[in-house]
Amino acid sequence: MNYRHHFHAGNFADVVKHALLVQLIRALQKKEKGFLQLDTHAGRGRYDLAGAARGDSLIRRPEWPDGIGRLWDRAGLPPALADYVALVREFDRSAGNAGPAPRFYPGSPCLARPLLRPQDRLVLCEKHPAECAALRDEFQFSPGATVQEMDGYGALRAMLPPQEKRALVLIDPPFEAQEEWRQIVDALRDGLRRLPGGVFAVWYPLTVRAKVDAFFAELLGLKPPPTLVAELAIAGDDSALKMKGCGLVILNPPWQFDQVAGPVLASLAEILTQGPGGGGRMTWLVPEL
Ligand SMILES: C[S@@+](CC[C@H](N)C(=O)[O-])C[C@H]1O[C@@H](n2cnc3c(N)ncnc32)[C@H](O)[C@@H]1O
Repeated sequence: MNYRHHFHAGNFADVVKHALLVQLIRALQKKEKGFLQLDTHAGRGRYDLAGAARGDSLIRRPEWPDGIGRLWDRAGLPPALADYVALVREFDRSAGNAGPAPRFYPGSPCLARPLLRPQDRLVLCEKHPAECAALRDEFQFSPGATVQEMDGYGALRAMLPPQEKRALVLIDPPFEAQEEWRQIVDALRDGLRRLPGGVFAVWYPLTVRAKVDAFFAELLGLKPPPTLVAELAIAGDDSALKMKGCGLVILNPPWQFDQVAGPVLASLAEILTQGPGGGGRMTWLVPEL
């Protein structure tokens, strides 16, 4: 477990994931009934972007300027994207930044926290002890939220089905090991068995297209419910960039979520693309009925 998210916080991949996550939460909250939000790979909760250029041993090029940095002062964003930027700005200000550039970036836990209603529950799992300790610190006075130092895949098995009978599960692993793809498919198989109507959102990197295609083929083998893929490529498949894009696969997306995600992706494609061949793509792996 060498992965540390703080090098990547606020990069284009975080923007795609977090902008869509906010809209998933909003969509589930259209119903009064509460739900469990399970973040299987939660990270430390918040990130100081001033530290993004300090590697463990080398100076690194910070990634956030090509992510949240490109949206920070942008006018004319579609409402769903403006919603996400406003939440990030609010977090940054309340964390103490008075400067013009972003300084404090919320991870998925801190982005979800202000949206929690009294009837909702947020469970945050993080396996790395130091990251989990920071997350625990961050959430010590947050009603409705609990932090667990544990394997996120195990949590998915342990915590579904929830008492609320409704859940939004975010699976956002580091993809350090090749077996991660397999672990996700196994966890989804279990998750769907335990809660067939649960909303499962899986973030994935687009490094080599063939890997993503193989992942989708495995997913189809589960005979999944309606499944939407929202993907952003920041450059074409032949680009020299290591991560050429990323996406969110959403099993059981809220009704007509594609109509919310579409304008978000289209706008992000315009703002975040770094090379020829980039663009947003939304496809149904299994269509909505
Ligand atoms: C991509 S980061 C998560 C970022 C976070 N979801 C966000 O959006 O702000 C992945 C995190 O998963 C943690 N991790 C790695 N393997 C894990 C596992 N099996 N279970 C839970 N957490 C794990 C890593 O320590 C890392 O903090």
